[in-house]
Amino acid sequence: MSKKLFIETLGCAMNSRDSEHMIAALKEKEGYETTDDMKNADLILINTCSVREKPVAKLFSELGVFNKKKKEGAKIGVCGCTASHLGEEIIKRAPYVSFVLGARNVSKIGEVLHKDKAVEVDINYDESEFAFDDFRTSPYKAYINISIGCDKQCTFCIVPKTRGEEISIPDELIVREAQRAVDNGAKEIFLLGQNVNNYGRRFSSSDHEKVNFTELLRRLSKIEGLRRIRFTSPHPFHMDDEFIEEFASNPKICKSMHMPLQSGSTKVLKDMKRGYSKEWFLNRVQKLREHCPEVSISTDIIVAFPGESEEDFEDTIDVMKQVKFDQIFSFKYSPRPETEAQHYSDVIDPEVASDRLSYLQALQTEMLDEKNKTQLGKTYEVYFEDLNADGYVSGRTDNNLVVKVKGSEELLGEFCDVKITKIGRTIFTGEIVA
Ligand code: SAH
Ligand code: F3S
Repeated sequence: MSKKLFIETLGCAMNSRDSEHMIAALKEKEGYETTDDMKNADLILINTCSVREKPVAKLFSELGVFNKKKKEGAKIGVCGCTASHLGEEIIKRAPYVSFVLGARNVSKIGEVLHKDKAVEVDINYDESEFAFDDFRTSPYKAYINISIGCDKQCTFCIVPKTRGEEISIPDELIVREAQRAVDNGAKEIFLLGQNVNNYGRRFSSSDHEKVNFTELLRRLSKIEGLRRIRFTSPHPFHMDDEFIEEFASNPKICKSMHMPLQSGSTKVLKDMKRGYSKEWFLNRVQKLREHCPEVSISTDIIVAFPGESEEDFEDTIDVMKQVKFDQIFSFKYSPRPETEAQHYSDVIDPEVASDRLSYLQALQTEMLDEKNKTQLGKTYEVYFEDLNADGYVSGRTDNNLVVKVKGSEELLGEFCDVKITKIGRTIFTGEIVA
């Protein structure tokens, strides 16, 4: 009988891809099968996120529960960004943990598995050309890493300390991986990196041809049978005209852009070391909409960064009102170890922070409800990817609306024109039109 692996993945899409890589290695080389039943697993992995404080605190309570309920002899491994930044401390605080594997060391899963109390968390380790085994959770959409690490120094962010310096994966490897996914039936690829439009800044080998993100997109879009290309996250600083024009004119690139604003105040953006101003951000949105009026725009916003005055917060609200984002991921600032901003004075009162977050989220809901009303009766092409439990099948439009229709698995992997019949906050209902 095969051994059982239970894996819990927290955090971003990059972590999901890292989990797929670990599952692949454990299946191919160690004879594991995945299970949803933690109590029955021989190996329990938690792939952690450390971007904010809460998930880190949760990790240790969760580890305690897993340890109590796990099968006798089962191993527990802690992977991902918290593994990178806490390293050995994890085993000190939770001695029953068998190994700790950093976000930059995923390819070593097979090694640490067989070394009791192994800690592999070197953030200078270069896996950019490692040939991972192939495993995908979804046959319809393929997540593909295009770079590892991040060279930016945003003062609030721990990621450069957990994922190390930025190295681009050679374009020929990316094209080959995309081709393989398409050969296996995927019609959509989703490119991943902390800073995708800074692609090509540094490759592992110094004589690699200089290929930037725009050129990478052009090369990938030549793959026959590939219908859709998505990516996350681009950085507003690197949104040059060439990139925006390619985005708008290339029919395979989905018309949905994530533009992480973080703050609408130029002063706060400076303190965050984001490298752009309020005006630059608005200018890029304008340029994007000029070339691509149908684009949907999502963003990340941090409220109550140290020193954020009422006026600074108003600037964020002003950008929201001007842009009318299609989706906002909003967070209260959370001080992180090893970041510059943790030492900033002028910390915002937690109550003020909560009030600002609630105000922002209520405003977004109100603006989005208004915007969504205009979707009723419109027809979009939907790529169906998920079978829901309630007799519906769901998928996304090119501009990233989630739409469900009544149907069964034969719709999965298909493109259909769908007319929106019911508006929802996160998911719309529709009917397939002939
Ligand atoms: N490279 C990505 C960011 C990855 S972190 C980008 O530029 O979009 C994902 C998001 O978490 C960030 O965009 C930010 O909004 C949020 N975040 C990061 N550090 C944070 C912190 N210390 N407190 C609150 N939110 C944070
Ligand atoms: Fe973090 Fe800024 Fe990089 S938010 S991941 S340091 S672009």
